Formats: sequence, structure tokens, C-alpha cells
Amino acid sequence: KMNQFISELMSDMTVAEKIGQMNLVTGGEAVTGSVVSTGVETKIKAGEIGGIFSMSSPAKIRAAQTLAVKQSRLGIPIIFGMDVIHGYKTMFPIPLGLAATWDMKLIRESARIAAVEASADGLNWTFSPMVDISRDPRWGRISEGSGEDTYLSSCIATEMVKGYQGDDLTAHNTLMACVKHFALYGAAEAGRDYHTTDMSLHRMYNEYFPPYKAAIDAGAGTVMTSFNDINGVPATANKWLMTDVLRHQWGFNGMVVTDYTAINELIDHGLGNLQTVSALALKAGVHMDMVGEGFLTTLKKSLDEGKVTLTEIDEACRLILETKYKLGLFDDPFRYCSEERAKNSMLTPSHLAKAREIAGKSFVLLKNENNTLPLKKSGTVALIGPLSNTRANMPGTWSVSADLENTPSLLEGMQAALDDKVKIVQHLGANLLSDAVYQERATMFGRAIPRDERPETEIIAEALRVAESADVIVAALGESSEMSGESSSRTDLDIPNTQKRLLEALLKTGKPVVLVLFAGRPLTLTWEHEHVPAILNVWFGGTETGKAVADVLFGDVNPSGKLPATFPQNVGQIPLYYSAKNTGRPLAEGAWFEKFRSNYLDVTNEPLYPFGYGLSYTTFTYGDIRLDKNSMKADEKIIATIRVTNNGHYDGEEVVQLYVRDLVGSVTRPVKELKDFQKIFLKKGESQDVVFEITTEDLKFYNNKLEFVAEPGEFKLFIGTNSSDVQEADFSLL
Ligand code: IFM
Repeated sequence: KMNQFISELMSDMTVAEKIGQMNLVTGGEAVTGSVVSTGVETKIKAGEIGGIFSMSSPAKIRAAQTLAVKQSRLGIPIIFGMDVIHGYKTMFPIPLGLAATWDMKLIRESARIAAVEASADGLNWTFSPMVDISRDPRWGRISEGSGEDTYLSSCIATEMVKGYQGDDLTAHNTLMACVKHFALYGAAEAGRDYHTTDMSLHRMYNEYFPPYKAAIDAGAGTVMTSFNDINGVPATANKWLMTDVLRHQWGFNGMVVTDYTAINELIDHGLGNLQTVSALALKAGVHMDMVGEGFLTTLKKSLDEGKVTLTEIDEACRLILETKYKLGLFDDPFRYCSEERAKNSMLTPSHLAKAREIAGKSFVLLKNENNTLPLKKSGTVALIGPLSNTRANMPGTWSVSADLENTPSLLEGMQAALDDKVKIVQHLGANLLSDAVYQERATMFGRAIPRDERPETEIIAEALRVAESADVIVAALGESSEMSGESSSRTDLDIPNTQKRLLEALLKTGKPVVLVLFAGRPLTLTWEHEHVPAILNVWFGGTETGKAVADVLFGDVNPSGKLPATFPQNVGQIPLYYSAKNTGRPLAEGAWFEKFRSNYLDVTNEPLYPFGYGLSYTTFTYGDIRLDKNSMKADEKIIATIRVTNNGHYDGEEVVQLYVRDLVGSVTRPVKELKDFQKIFLKKGESQDVVFEITTEDLKFYNNKLEFVAEPGEFKLFIGTNSSDVQEADFSLL
């Protein structure tokens, strides 16, 4: 039915109208490049626009859609997109924080709620999930993905797609997903955004590709190209990537959209003029051009000159029309526009309750010496720091749609949650950054933080006077939300110096100090780990951050978040990730330093906090791994059981993690790879046998011929509380 409908429609379309469908313009609510779309109304009427993004509200979208369906020659509806990345009005933690929950059900629910809210505001397409693996926290966009691990990211990619798309894309409360950025955007050299990627095929297929593939296997309707160069061919012009891998190997049959002006940027990559690069992108397998209008302005000429074919244009146009058809836009172009739904769907009590729950579960307790936490619900807390009373920075990066009026600051949220049981006194304590220009860059997009231009010593002295009456100090420090995210790479990952000096002064008071750390990436916290008794990493937790922080600090919620990315000791260790290769000169575990071994003179090979790490107010102990057998044939499975006991004083959740090492292979294999995990809840004193099944599928990898195989041989199995602290067992594949 769809094919026939579209064939009939296309038989009426001129070449110009087909190319018009391939043009995606911005409504201007989030401008992330140097170009902004112009003449949008005129172009809609002329049939020169297929999609609009970064425009919201039923009124605006209805107006644009009306122009398209009533005033363009063929009345083809527009698709409306937006970066709905971690919530729409109800903001959830940034994706790196969502990943730290390791809770697939909650992650899917967050995407479902985002879809309910965004679709009520007229939208039907989200540029999410972002599944770029990154092992370089200098790269600001590590905040927008699920971290360093292939398996965890793949699981999350699946849940996000299912959460957005539901099981009926034509339903008025679902969004079409767009998996991005295809591909390898997170491997930018030196962590500098938009930088080159050069990677072996072996690594691509085994480590970086699987999350994109998982999103596609889960049914993601669309794919966005990445900005970066890949082994000499930028992704947006990369036919091998967009056609051979994506369509032929993975069977993707939806449309591919570029990132913002990514076709035009091929000129700067050095591939030719706008006409040439637009033709290259089309031929590579790109269908929709975001903002740059290279397709709109050059494809007809290229067709006349025989540089592209009508079949290529038809294919792109067909896939775009199919996308609209799948969303039900031809049946009812206004199905996503309902003022009534928009009024009733945003920031509802149940959405906010879910946001609070998820935020609390995303926080990672990095240190808790002498049970500093949880705090007693009495007395006075001094809440000190540049992030202690700013609403704009609560939602985190890529939260253009956030309703800041209805986003309590940390202070406001904590006060609301604590209901006067605890007195909170508050002070800015320090500027976010000592350098005003840097601070301006780090607080763009309306995310300003007040500055105090007095000398630092004066500000700190005032903060200390405020803290004098307090029983405990909560230092709200770290990054502003725009210090991570797009175009926010950093070379120094310490807490900014001015904030560190404040922290030193707070510690000198002798009062217990809890560091509530805002961060969009792993930071280097070696000094803080040594000196601060308790550290709670809260990422950017979304709308209900403040309440969720109170829940955790005061023990109503026991922290259970686990790091989805390694925290290095210093920047020089980057890239540092748990699933590295052994090398031919490995250092003995725990050892440092040995001459002529793979190590550093000045720092151990260990991270500060390993992948999968996170403390709880209770303690979990692990028994030995029990295997039902020590070897299996290809069609068999091994059952591994481990007893986990909560022998602390609080009920709590634990993420039980299973890793595998393939000891001998036709190619070198990582020292550990996450293959499964279970999040369990244990009451204090309770034990549970946690049971995992290991099948041949878990042991497969892409060999040098890029065949996905499991090779017989010896394996090690690890189960534990994080990637370093594990129990071991051996088994073999026959
Ligand atoms: O979706 C984003 C992308 O992640 C970065 N460039 C702009 C796009 C649309 O806003």
C-alpha cells in the first residue's frame, strides 16, 4: 500500500519537488552552526522543504504544516524534528547519567515520556539516540552518549529506540528515532570536536559499530551522518559507510539525514565545491540535507550534467516520503498538533516523579569515607558553590526545550524535598571559572551563572562566614552544563582552579564536606579523592536534580549508579578504558613501575575510578563463581551462578557485572569485555544467587576477515561489582 501510494505521488512530482523533499531547514530554536535557514515560508509554498527541525509548539507547527499541505502544489506534509535527547520539558539526566543507572527499564521509560511530551508539542522526529562510543573525556559530547562500552551502549540504544518509537509509529504519542552520529564521531583525535577519526576496520566492527547496529536492529527509522573524516573519507560522503555497511550489511531501509551543514563542510574537508560535494553525498547514500541547501541548489544542475542520476534522487525522495508515511502524516498531517495534549502532557506529576527517581539512580557515589553520607535530617547544611543556586544549568547539555521556569535550582530542589527539616544556608563561594571569557563560553545558550567580580579571597571569606553556622558543608562544584556537550572539548579535566581553592578553604574549616559534583564527563579528581571525605557525582540530573540530590544525601535513596566511563587519574592517561588489549609487555596487575613494560614513569596504569564503579551506603559481597560445566560446544550454554550478599546496614541496589576474556584468538582480544549485567535489589542482610547464561553468541567477534565468529579455546569469566573488582572462573569453548 505504501509503495503504491508513494509511486503514484512521485509520478506527479517534478525533479525540483523531489529535491525539495530532500531539504531540511531549521526553525531556529537551536542554532549550532554558522548558517541559519532563511525564506522558510516561501520555500514551503514552493515545495522546497521536506522537513523542519528546532521549531516547536502546536501553533507554530500547525502554521508551517498548513502552508505545506494547503499552499504547496502537491500538499506534501512536512516532518518536524528536534533534538529531544534526554527529555523534552521534563528533563532526565544527560545520557551519560542515564547510562550510569544501568537500568534499561527506566531508560526506556525516560524515552517514552520524552516522546509523549515532544509529540504533544507538534514534533514527530527526534535526533536521538546518540550512540557514539567515546573513550576520550576531553571530547565534550561524551556527555550525550552512553560512555565507553560497546555492550552497555548497545543495550541502551535498543531501549531508547523502543521508548521513542513504541510499537506504533503512527500513534500520536510516538517519535521516529534518528540514530547518530554515523559513524565514529566519538573517536575524534585528541578529543577535539569535529576532528578526524582514523581507525582499523577490526576496531570499528568490534567496538564502535555495534551500538549503531543495535539501534537499527531495534527499528530506528532514520540515521544521521557524522561530521568527521573516517580513514580519509568524511562520513557524509562515505559510500562504503552509508551504503555498503549501513544498507547492504545491516539491511537498513530508512532515510539518512546529514548533520547540520555537514555537506557544505565537505568543502572544508577538501573534497570540492558545493556542487561536487552535494553529488558525492547523494551518491554515498545520503537523502536529506540539514540546513546547508547543497542539494536544493545544486542537484538539478548535477542531474543535467550527468553527475548524479534521477534514480539516485528518486531513491532519496522515496525514502523521505516513506518516513512521512510511516509516521501517518499523509493520513493526518496535524496528528501531532494538539493544544489540549500540549497543555496536559508536560511536566505532569508522574513525569516529574519518574525524573526524580531516575536522577537519584544516575548519581554515582565515588567516595564515602567513614560513612559521611547519608546525612542526618536535622541541623544546618551550608550549600556552597557556583552551581548551588542556578536553574539554567540543572538540565544539562542539549536541553533546548527545557522549561527553566519550572526547573528548581539545587537549593530550591533540596529545600522542597527537605521540607524545613534541615536549614540550608547558601553562597556562590567562587566563580565557575576565574577567567571571565572562558566562563562566558562555558555558559552559552542562556545558561549563564552569576559572576562576582570581587577578589576571590573576599568571596571565599564571605562563603566561610555563611558556612560557620553549619553542621556540614555541601560543596556544589564542577562543570556548567555548557562545559560539556557539542563544541565543548577541554584539555584540562580538573575542577576549575578557583573552585578547587574554595574547596580547600571549606575543608580547612574541619567540618564534614560533601562534594556534589556536576560533570558532563569523567573529570580528573585525584586531589579531591585524596582530600574530600565524600564525593557524589550527579552529572546533570535534569528537572528534578535538586530533589534527587536531597533524596540521596539524606538517605531516602541509596545510591546505585555505576560509571559508564573510566575516570582517569590524569589527562595524560587518556584514552583509558577497561577493555584495552594486553600488549606484548603487560604490567603485572597492581604493579608499577617496571622498565621495558607498558607503563608510565609518573603514574600507574590504573584509573582513579574504573568502568562500572560506584559505591552504595550498604556493602555487597560476592561469593565464588559456580559454573554448571567448564566447557561447552557451540550450541550449548554455560550457566554461571554467583551469590551476592548485602551485608551492610541499608537496603540497596547493585549492578552485578559479567565480563569475558578470550585468552587466545586469531586476532588479539581485549583483557575484559562486558557481556551481561543484572541490577538487583537486596534488603540488608539478604543474599541472592545471581544466574547468568553464557552462549556462543557472547563469545563472537569480528575476525580479520570481518566474519563474526566464536573461536574455540580458553576463556576467563569475571563477575563483580565493577570492571576491576571481580571474581574469576575459567571455561572453554570446544
Ligand atoms: O542533532 C544535532 C547534532 O547532534 C549536532 N548538530 C546539530 C543537530 C541538529 O540540531
